[in-house]
Amino acid sequence: VNPEKERLYEAYELCSKLYHFLLKNTQHGQEAMAYLRSRGFNDKLIDQFGLGFAPDRWDTLVQFLGKREFDLLEMEKGGLLSARQDRDGYVDKFRNRIMFPIHDRNGRVIAFAGRILGEGQPKYLNSPESLLFNKSRTLYNLHQAKTSVRKQRQIILCEGYGDVISTWEAGFQNVVATMGTSLTEQQISVMKSMAEEVIVSYDGDRAGLNAAMKVLPMLENAGLKVRIALLGDGLDPDDYYRKYGGDRYRHVLENAAASTKFKLIYLKKNHILLEEQGKIAYTREALPVIAELSSSTEREVYLRELATELQLSYESLKQDCNLLRQSMQ
Ligand code: UTP
Ligand code: MN
Ligand code: MN
Ligand code: MN
Ligand code: MN
Repeated sequence: VNPEKERLYEAYELCSKLYHFLLKNTQHGQEAMAYLRSRGFNDKLIDQFGLGFAPDRWDTLVQFLGKREFDLLEMEKGGLLSARQDRDGYVDKFRNRIMFPIHDRNGRVIAFAGRILGEGQPKYLNSPESLLFNKSRTLYNLHQAKTSVRKQRQIILCEGYGDVISTWEAGFQNVVATMGTSLTEQQISVMKSMAEEVIVSYDGDRAGLNAAMKVLPMLENAGLKVRIALLGDGLDPDDYYRKYGGDRYRHVLENAAASTKFKLIYLKKNHILLEEQGKIAYTREALPVIAELSSSTEREVYLRELATELQLSYESLKQDCNLLRQSMQ
C-alpha cells in the first residue's frame, strides 16, 4: 500500500461527507438545495448519489482538512485544494458549487465534479487526474450499476451526471456515464467484462449524435451488441425524462434502435429527400451500411424500407447493394 494514496482516499471520503452534510443541513446549502429540487432531484436521489455543496468560501476544506492534520501540499496535489497565487498557503478548489462525488468501481470516492448553480462557465469544474483518479478508466456510477449490469448483461451509457441520475430514477440501475469526454478503449474493456450489450443514451443534440456515431464502431469492434436510444428534439436523457416522464423515457430505452437503423437515420438528416440529388446522395451513403450486413434477411428488411421511403424499387436497390458487396470482397 501507498500511504499517500490511502490518506487521499480518506480525505476524499471525509470531504464528500462534509459537502453532503453542508448541502442538507446548513443555511449555506439552501440555495443549492432549491436548485436541485427545481431540477427534480429529490432527497432520495441526493442521498443515493451523495450529492453535496461546496459553500462560497475560500477555506471550507482548508480549515476542515487542516484541523484533521492532513498535509495541505498533499491535498493540493490530490486536487482538493489550490495553491494561493499571491502568497503562501492554500484555498479550496471548489467554491459555490453543487458537488457530485465520483467513485471507483469499488465505491471509493476518487474525484469530484462541481456544478455551478445556474448559468456560467465552466459549467462543471472537475478534479484533476491524481493518484486516485484516472479519467479514461473511470465510468461514473459504475459502483452502483455493476450488480445490475452483470445480472442483465446490459449497460446503459450516458454522457453526464444528471442523465445517470434521471435514468436511475426511471428504474434502470445499470446506467453509467463517460462524463463528457470521448469514450476510451479502457472504458470499453470494463464494459465488455460485464455486459454483452450497450444501450447508448447520449444527448439528442448534434454533438451527442456525432458522439454516438463515433462510439458505435468502437463498441462493435470490441464484440459488444449496440443499440442507440433516440431522444430527438435535441434533449438529453435528463431533459427528456423531466419533460415527458418515466413511461416515455422507458419506452425510448426499451425500443432503442439497432445500429444499422441508427446509422441510416443519422445519414438521412443531412439530405433533403424530396430532391433527386438528395435521394441519390442519401442512397449512396446508405447502401454501404446495408451492404456490410452479413445476413441477407437483414439486408432485405432495410432495403425494402429504403425503397418505400424513397419511392424506389426494391429490385434496383438490391442490384446496387449486391454490386457493392462484390466490390467489398
Ligand atoms: P452537458 O453539457 O451535456 O451537460 O455535458 P449536462 O450533463 O447536460 O449538465 P446539466 O444537465 O446542464 O447539469 C455532459 C457532461 O460533460 C461533462 C460533464 O460530465 C457533463 O455531465 N462536462 C460538461 C464537463 O466535465 N465540464 C463542462 O463544463 C461541461
Ligand atoms: Mn444522506
Ligand atoms: Mn451535451
Ligand atoms: Mn447534456
Ligand atoms: Mn443535462
